[in-house]
Order: sequence, then structure tokens, then C-alpha cells
Amino acid sequence: MTDVPAGGPQLPQRRKLVTEIPGPASRELQARRASAVAPGVSSTLPVYITAAGGGVLLDADGNSLIDFGSGIAVTSVGNASPRVAERVQAQVAQFTHTCFMVAPYAGYVEVCEALNAKTPGAHEKRSALFNSGAEAVENAVKIARHATGRQAVVAFDHAYHGRTNLTMALTAKNMPYKSGFGPFASEIYRVPMAYPLRWPDGPEACRAEALDAVKGLIHAQVGEQNVAAVIIEPVQGEGGFIVPPDGFLPGLAEYCRENGIVFIADEIQSGFCRTGDWFACDHEGVVPDLVTTAKGIAGGLPLAAVTGRAEIMDAVHPGGLGGTYGGNPVACAAALGAIETMEAEDLPGKARRIGEIMLPRLRKLASSHPLIADVRGRGAMIAIELTKPGTLDPDAAATTAVAKYCHQQGLMVLTCGTFGNVLRFLPPLVIGEDLLEEGLDILDDAFAAL
Ligand SMILES: Cc1ncc(COP(=O)(O)O)c(C=O)c1O
Repeated sequence: MTDVPAGGPQLPQRRKLVTEIPGPASRELQARRASAVAPGVSSTLPVYITAAGGGVLLDADGNSLIDFGSGIAVTSVGNASPRVAERVQAQVAQFTHTCFMVAPYAGYVEVCEALNAKTPGAHEKRSALFNSGAEAVENAVKIARHATGRQAVVAFDHAYHGRTNLTMALTAKNMPYKSGFGPFASEIYRVPMAYPLRWPDGPEACRAEALDAVKGLIHAQVGEQNVAAVIIEPVQGEGGFIVPPDGFLPGLAEYCRENGIVFIADEIQSGFCRTGDWFACDHEGVVPDLVTTAKGIAGGLPLAAVTGRAEIMDAVHPGGLGGTYGGNPVACAAALGAIETMEAEDLPGKARRIGEIMLPRLRKLASSHPLIADVRGRGAMIAIELTKPGTLDPDAAATTAVAKYCHQQGLMVLTCGTFGNVLRFLPPLVIGEDLLEEGLDILDDAFAAL
């Protein structure tokens, strides 16, 4: 491993293939993995990574791949980002763990201060830190139930909130997330998502009809007075990068306010500059009661948070929240480095620029490939949905074929969607424009090769 270059932005920012993908060294590791790692944990593309930075991933065979995945929207500041690496190294040398619930430290408080300042709304807030997105969602539900004294939680079609028991219940898609893992947590109710492409009466009718459907179902099947929280991803992630029409989220927030329901925005995938704003809710000035964050928050270290109105967060008794590792000092140091980078390098602006480059090119691609039914997203959270031409029948096979072509050409792309027919693009926000254009050229070739 001594001849492996160090990761970070100084890695050569170019695509270079020296073997087939995956190459022999990755295949050897994959063979060892088969007898050591539980197969339930799978990988999109089994190239084994030795270094990464900027917009590239370097593998064990010396291939340099273009990264349009950011480890599922995590390394927004880039891999081994300098301010993150510096702060983490300094923190590791000082102390690695005390448990904030035993003996606290400043980094935790500083991350909470930053979250309270950056999340939507100027009201007084508090934050609590956890390890993973799912854990943050679980805690947001705990807090909402405790604060309201109510039990029901309303989630949406196509939602993804995690893989723990409660978050599986909130997640919509059966395979691979839920099948065989029940029974699930109770008091979860599902309502339709405002999904413009698939709304039965068309995109124009989507906002108003979806809002009416949500309100009608809650009234008839749950009762507003029983609902502790409505939880929604402001731009849905795993479910297919579904962007609700303008007005839907403000309407939902207003409805929650009128009915004493805690409005939880799950910004775990869409937050921290990804959509061109600090948080996707900022786009329409929506102010949630609670916000869950993770992924992009700490440049790749495991950290998650719930941030919310002081009066809701303060309702929970001391000791009611926490966990051994939540807000680990090394992860907090990483988060402070990541947030500093987002501010210093204007990453919301970089995300918007990525959208300005990607969206027109993808729309042009769609104009010559009728199986692209929709191009959508904001900033650097962009997707295309593939259907059988002229219909809404999902084309998961073509989606898989395009992804496979890209992988073989050294472009990391991810798929998603309830029907497995969405290609999603989540480049690191620090990716160079040349790499971005080259990745889009590969995508053009992939469609030409179908
Ligand atoms: C919107 C959303 N919520 C929750 C989660 C779960 O986060 P984690 O995988 O860190 O538990 C994810 C992960 O993809 C997500 O996208």
C-alpha cells in the first residue's frame, strides 16, 4: 500500500482506466469478501477504493473513476477534504471519546450552535447529535411524540427514512428495505406524495390535489388531534429524487401549524448545500419544526442531528435522548471542518453551478431519447427517470444498462426510485467542471449504446 497516493483534492483530477472495471485487485478483494462479509450488505460497484478526493475515486488497481455519487450525498466537501482532515487529525491526537453524556466537550456545543444558526428559521433552537440518519429520524419521532403527547406519525409514498425498525416502517419501498423484516412499528400512516410526473390528473393538478388528499386521509383515517408529526423529505431521495411542486411544502407546513402537528423535514440527503441552498426547505422559505440531518454534515464521518424549535426540543426530560457515541468528538471536528469549507468555498453556489451545467445537458439528452420521461432536481441533486417511450411504465432494465455502461467507463453513478428506474447524480460539490462534462459525455455514450 506504500505506493498509493494520499487522498484529497491534490489527487490528479482525471479519469484514467488501467484495467477493466472492476480490475484484478478489486476482484480478489471481492472474492475474499464473499466468505467474510454478510451478503445482505451489497455494493453498487465493487471497485475497492484506496484514495479519493475532489471528483475522483482511485481504486486498488490504479483506476481513477469520476465520482457522481459522493458515497450517497455524503462527501459534498470532497473526500479527505483539507479542513476536515486537519481538524480530525488534531482531534484524534487529543482525545477520541469521553461520551458527551459522561464528560462533555466544546466541539459538540459548537456543532449544535452551527446547526441552530444554519437550519431554516430565525427562532430559538436546540440540537441533539446522533450517529446515523436513521437514528436522527428515530429521535425526531421520539421528540415529537413526547412534546405533543400524541402517537401517530404520517409519512409519504416513496419515502425513505432508514433501515432501523421504526424507520423501516416510515420507509415506503418493500424491496430491498423491508421484505421479511417485519413486524414494523405501529402508528405509522402513509399518504400520497406530490409526484408531478405520476400524478393521475397531471402535474398542474398535483399540488392542490395532493394537499387535499393528505388532509382528507389524515382527517378520515387518523384524526388530526392524534397526529404527533408529519415527516417528509423536501426533495425525496431513495424514492426517486421527487421534487414536489412549488407550494406543496408551504401548504403542508401551514396545515401542520394549524393542527398542532410537528412538521419534520428529513434533510438527511437534501441538506448541507446539496440542492443549491443550505437546506432544500430554504428554496421556498419553509420553516420546519424539526430538521433531521446527517450525510453531508461531516465530510464522511458518522454524525447526524435533530435540530428544532426550543419549546419542542426542551420538552424531553434530561437523559431521555442520547447514546454512547452520538456527537463523537472526532465526528464533531469533521463537521466543523465541513461547515467551514461550505462557507469558505460557497458550496451552495457550487451546487447551483453544477445544476446549471447538468440540467440543460440532460434535457438535451432527453430530447433525443424518448425513454427519458423526466429530468428533475435542484443544484447537485439531479435525476432522470426512464420509462418505456410514450408511457409511464418504468424501464428498470434500461436504467441498469445505462448505469452498467457508465461504471465500465469509469463513471460512478447510482440508481434509485420505487421502481428502480431513476438514475441519480450526486457529484461532490467541489468537482471540477471538466470532470462534470466528461461524466455527462459518458452518459450520452451510454444512451447511444442502448
Ligand atoms: C432522506 C433520508 N433519511 C434517512 C436516511 C438514513 O440515513 P442513514 O443511512 O445514515 O441511517 C437516508 C439515507 O439514505 C436518507 O436519504
